[in-house]
Amino acid sequence: MARKIVITSGKGGVGKTTLAVNLGVALSKRGERVIVCDADFGLNNADVIAGVENLVNYDIVDVIEGRCRGAQALVRHPAYGNLYLLASHSAPERYISPQALKLVLEGLAPKYDFILVDCPAGIDEGFHRAVACADEAIVVTTPHLPALRDADKVITVLKSYEMQKISFIANMVRGDLLVSGQSLSVKELESILKVPLLGIVPDAYDLYLNRLDESAKAFKVLASNLITGKRKLPDVTSRYKGLTGAIRRYFKSGL
Ligand SMILES: Nc1ncnc2c1ncn2[C@@H]1O[C@H](COP(=O)(O)OP(=O)(O)OP(=O)(O)O)[C@@H](O)[C@H]1O
Ligand SMILES: [Mg+2]
Repeated sequence: MARKIVITSGKGGVGKTTLAVNLGVALSKRGERVIVCDADFGLNNADVIAGVENLVNYDIVDVIEGRCRGAQALVRHPAYGNLYLLASHSAPERYISPQALKLVLEGLAPKYDFILVDCPAGIDEGFHRAVACADEAIVVTTPHLPALRDADKVITVLKSYEMQKISFIANMVRGDLLVSGQSLSVKELESILKVPLLGIVPDAYDLYLNRLDESAKAFKVLASNLITGKRKLPDVTSRYKGLTGAIRRYFKSGL
């Protein structure tokens, strides 16, 4: 039976969809059967980030309205055989109830290990619909105060749901700024959000360019933490320490 995990944030653009897809890739490479469900109706783009937009024939609304079965709507990733995408619908005016989406995912859950639900930004209807489908939540934040404030608000709302687990991922972490003390440390992030840290993902050129699987190391650790419940963190600062590290920091300081 799949663990149904909503990937949420509050603030937009912090990397929810990028993390959902890349975490899905990492889990699938460990042999886990994974569905990434795009629950961002209207501004859906998980299919694009996964690189399967041309393979989508049916979406969630087709399943809800009986035009196909749940399994028929899944797009199997051509490069990662255990990874499937359940595409969203791009018409924002359509009303989709939380119960309808929940039923679709519950129908698929027995044959999969993970369903990662990509949530829209904000805490309105779309957020509640995505959250209502899940048993666990991962809150994505960047190490910036506006994102943290929104993440904190989202965590407060999530606590009113009966979630089995709530954790957070710090995304776009910059090792150079951590070393120079200009970025909030992992400890500071944990003390602000007061839920367990699942892992960190560095600010990476490959992720910025949406090159799937190029930041495999960070997501491998993340997938392992999710499965084992342990907490390992990739070292994002080592290349910015010492003399060569100082030179790298100098060249990155203008970015
Ligand atoms: N670790 C990272 N390093 C560099 N760029 C990143 C990283 N994570 C995400 N990005 C980039 O940030 C942008 C926003 O990412 P993404 O669309 O995944 O965010 P989102 O939270 O899903 O946004 P929305 O709230 O609009 O759904 C994208 O251009 C993505 O490539
Ligand atoms: Mg998104």
